[in-house]
Amino acid sequence: MPLVIAIDGPAASGKGTLAKRLAHHYGLPHLDTGLLYRAVALLMLDAGVSLDDTDQAARTAGRLVADQLADPRLRERAMGEAASRVSSVPGVRAALLSWQRKFAGGEAGAVLDGRDIGTVICPDARVKLFITASPEERARRRHRELAGRGEETTLAAILADIRARDARDSSRSAAPLKAAEDAVRLDTTELDAEEAFAAARAVVDRAREH
Ligand code: DC
Repeated sequence: MPLVIAIDGPAASGKGTLAKRLAHHYGLPHLDTGLLYRAVALLMLDAGVSLDDTDQAARTAGRLVADQLADPRLRERAMGEAASRVSSVPGVRAALLSWQRKFAGGEAGAVLDGRDIGTVICPDARVKLFITASPEERARRRHRELAGRGEETTLAAILADIRARDARDSSRSAAPLKAAEDAVRLDTTELDAEEAFAAARAVVDRAREH
């Protein structure tokens, strides 16, 4: 049976880094599903369309192609916020569902990270991880990451972003951020990247033995 690893968690919890490392370790393709929502938002902004236009958002999601996921602007701070807004539109989520399922359904298996992978996209995934960390620790990590890319912001502004995104992503009615009942929770507040990777590998290896 192909190995599908579903990784969910709030913004800047470290799930992206973890997903990438697990994919590399197990030789699986990886999809950062946040990029899909970021790309929908960016295409709308580039086209001068309001992010509140739900019909346009759904149409844009339906037309998304893989090449559009490579734009470096997708990683900018403002795009996380914009993506969170369009991701609450049910038509956007519906348009992106089959794309994600197709990616997950390959023969090799896959690693997907996002907010609803274990609950909606891959409810039958062999491994489900729900990654958390305190908002303060996540803000520190995101601040370091953005500074490394030359994007100047304050820690306080990032913490405010993170709290706003947590609230929006958790409270929306369409596929809110929540742990699947059968997900293994991993709190990385006190763990460095190496320790988090080791803990996640232990979960995957245990699941593969069964
Ligand atoms: O993981 P990220 O920061 O790149 O995600 C950006 C936004 O996209 C996030 O705030 C909510 C949305 N998103 C989602 O609704 N479902 C996913 N599977 C992934 C991201």
